[in-house]
Amino acid sequence: MSSGKTSSAVETGLTHLAVSLRGVTKTYDNGVMALGPFDLAVRKGEFISLLGPSGCGKSTVLRLIAELSAPSSGIVRVARHEGEVQPGHGIGFVFQEPTLMPWTSVRENVRLPLKLASVPKAEARARADAALASVGLADFADSFPRELSGGMKMRVSLARALVTDPDILLMDEPFAALDEITRFRLNNDLLALWRTLGKTVIFVTHSVFESVYLSQRVVVMTARPGRIQADIRIETVEPRGEAFRTSAAYSDYCRKVSAALAPSYQGQSTL
Ligand SMILES: Nc1ncnc2c1ncn2[C@@H]1O[C@H](COP(=O)(O)OP(=O)(O)O)[C@@H](O)[C@H]1O
Ligand SMILES: [Mg+2]
Repeated sequence: MSSGKTSSAVETGLTHLAVSLRGVTKTYDNGVMALGPFDLAVRKGEFISLLGPSGCGKSTVLRLIAELSAPSSGIVRVARHEGEVQPGHGIGFVFQEPTLMPWTSVRENVRLPLKLASVPKAEARARADAALASVGLADFADSFPRELSGGMKMRVSLARALVTDPDILLMDEPFAALDEITRFRLNNDLLALWRTLGKTVIFVTHSVFESVYLSQRVVVMTARPGRIQADIRIETVEPRGEAFRTSAAYSDYCRKVSAALAPSYQGQSTL
């Protein structure tokens, strides 16, 4: 039985925080202890990365925050507006795979969350088109997923997560399967969206370089069961761009984060 708890801001008064996990553990039914104890506080509007080796519990953290899974112990709190009582409300989730419906148009894929929420069709269509425009795909609303490149499919997936205007965006290794140049472009576009939309972003990656480039804080996790190994603030001139990627400050942070991450890989083959 689960003894952990997920509760909303109405009870918890998370004034400045978007998400708070306190003493959270997760043991799956098969006995695998995936996480914890794990403590994390994310401020509203913050961009943080969770960085750690495969299997350390990163996706588990996101699923707990999205209330797709309950903690075994500890407390998960997520700030919400009054009236957002359904689990998952106020949260957008982007997975590594774009998971688009192949049989229907890009617009219909993006409209899906609004359709499920019974938003009237004309309004949903306008909002889907606006979300597509925000990710640079205004001209592709009538295309089918098979007609798009990997990067474009990921943009559709991002538009689908943004279409409900969530306060919190959870991203689970979204760009891991893309080539480097496409990934860099998406990194820049995501940062631009984050600056304009003011959402809280929790971004999972196993790339040191990506975590340092994108986030205000890099939270380094230990090997399973995932705990916090280091919590590193990345301070630089904003907005970030290619100048940051090639700067000495960027390499210094990457070295620092790599050093913090190294113990999490001890005992694991590097092959
Ligand atoms: N539904 C599940 N049932 C059993 N074990 C699971 C389940 N989901 C994940 N795990 C295990 O929990 C650990 C952490 O998984 P996960 O959070 O997916 O790690 P990460 O995202 O860091 O790769 C892994 O060892 C994984 O095999
Ligand atoms: Mg994962």
